[in-house]
Amino acid sequence: MTLLATSTDFVRTRRTRRTAGLRDLVRETRLDPASFIYPMFVTHGRNLREPIASMPGQARLSLDQLPAEAAELRGLGVRAVMLFGIPASKDATGSEGYASDGIAQLATRVLKDADPDLTVVGDVCLCEYTDHGHCGLLGSDGEVDNDRSLPLLAEAAVSLAEAGADLIAPSDMMDGRVEAIRRALDEAGHESLPIMSYSAKYASAFYGPFREAADSAPRMGPPHRRSYQMDPANVREALREVAADELEQADIVMVKPALAYLDVIRVVKESTDLPVAAYNVSGEYAMLKAAAINGWLDERAAVLETLTAIRRAGADIILTYHAKDAARWLREDA
Ligand code: PBG
Repeated sequence: MTLLATSTDFVRTRRTRRTAGLRDLVRETRLDPASFIYPMFVTHGRNLREPIASMPGQARLSLDQLPAEAAELRGLGVRAVMLFGIPASKDATGSEGYASDGIAQLATRVLKDADPDLTVVGDVCLCEYTDHGHCGLLGSDGEVDNDRSLPLLAEAAVSLAEAGADLIAPSDMMDGRVEAIRRALDEAGHESLPIMSYSAKYASAFYGPFREAADSAPRMGPPHRRSYQMDPANVREALREVAADELEQADIVMVKPALAYLDVIRVVKESTDLPVAAYNVSGEYAMLKAAAINGWLDERAAVLETLTAIRRAGADIILTYHAKDAARWLREDA
């Protein structure tokens, strides 16, 4: 047998690219706003839409703004949000993070009242609520104390569950927190509430704009999070994190950030049957927005290409600040 490519003709991969109809037929990856989660910042006060300078288009919203936001999301087909709270005050143990009237708990109630079908994801972490800015408690040795942080994270999860959250997402990177949260939720009667673990969360420079938005950069203790978030150089370790979270009964695993970690998304996807989420983080959003605002990139094309690449790498769910824009563009294209 002779190969066609070496005899009468060469391989013509362009045939299926000739028309938009053919391209649509052979497309391997599609974007659907139903798989987006839109991260939002919520703050005390009234009538506030405080723009976040390093995240053009994103703002800190007061509670009264949330029903309109929920309606807009519904109109666009974005059906899930993730909440980050800006507390009234910060302290050593991050108490507003697990208060029943904490800002994230209040926002969860407002959103679920406004639209019971909206999936509200509660982020569980202490860094937005602690005066030192670390994701767990700071020990007397200046290190982040893993095991003493677990009960507080579990309490935060339960308080978000009581407020009506549909999914609990721990982002603190303490060891054993998925199990601690699972046990606490079960004990409080929330055995049906799923956990999406930030399993492979890297100590990344790309969280910079988020830390501005949430005023959550480390201020005491180590000036970084490298003793609990992962080293960007490692990929096998991501599989250990995912395997541990799977044992601890995580329902969804996450890789974060997304763009510099597409290879991690791919191997995680191949290593687990759990749904895989990827977080297209604040710095990734900021880079693209900055280039778009300068006229250096076509924003719409670049955003849709970026989100498609994250899905192609293996993400079932994408957390992205582009969610509303992308949903709008996908609708226009349809
Ligand atoms: C809290 C948390 C962070 C992000 C999500 N949850 C910041 C951090 O770890 O410092 C970052 C999200 C983003 O950059 O968009 N632990």
